[in-house]
Amino acid sequence: MKQRYLPALTLALLCSLAVLAGCGKKDSNAAASAGNAATEYVVGADGAYAPFASENEQKELVGFDIEIMKAVADKAGLKIRIVNTPFDGLFNALSQGDRDILISTITINDQRRQTMDFSEPYFVAKQLIVLPSSSKVTKFEDLKTLKIGVQSATTADEAAQNLVGKNSPSVKRFESMPLAFQELEGGGVDAVIGDNGVVTNFVKNNPGKSFRIVNDPAFPKEYYGIAVKKGNAELLAKLNHGLEQIKADGTQDRIYKKYFADEKL
Ligand code: ARG
Repeated sequence: MKQRYLPALTLALLCSLAVLAGCGKKDSNAAASAGNAATEYVVGADGAYAPFASENEQKELVGFDIEIMKAVADKAGLKIRIVNTPFDGLFNALSQGDRDILISTITINDQRRQTMDFSEPYFVAKQLIVLPSSSKVTKFEDLKTLKIGVQSATTADEAAQNLVGKNSPSVKRFESMPLAFQELEGGGVDAVIGDNGVVTNFVKNNPGKSFRIVNDPAFPKEYYGIAVKKGNAELLAKLNHGLEQIKADGTQDRIYKKYFADEKL
């Protein structure tokens, strides 16, 4: 009795296999027929870094970096999805292949060039010091005997450690800039060093709290670049092409003025 059903069962099995195979094929066809143009590039950006990238009430990322990235992608014909990625995990996410592109006010430097490739610069920045208005500090050197707050693994972190020595306890390192600013407000650090755009934004948004900024000419200019995995020359060329176009047609200037109309270096 059982044997009589065997051919039918086999047939049923084969049919379902065929259907499954068909389904699989359909999926890969969808991706393939869409071609390269529809490859979705995953972009990592630290969303705790207003006004470059922060989350609005709808939990969407907004800010200068986000607008630059979208404009570049648009000109370069790249489909992108921007994912909020904490700064301390960004570089790893890129090398692991979890992100294809990073835009996160990343200063181009030789150390980072060893593990990633950078686009042409899209922003010029420098470090600023923010402290309570009552502070006597007038220059970077004055921080030598004080407690300094920085975001870890940033150029500010490096500058602070250069000033007071590697792993000195007088440098307090935070995962994000909002945490560093919070510590300043609470008096846990005497000063915070950070990129001009984010420091200026913090002071502007806390008018009642009397902080002031020290702009020490000793800090060098820094140039932000969009990063890709080392060796991804094809993607980098597309990004540079997009950047070139938004610089040429005024898009870059328009976005800059929207966020940094009165920013001085
Ligand atoms: N430009 C500085 C650096 O590259 C600070 C970057 C911090 N950016 C951020 N999105 N948290 O080290």
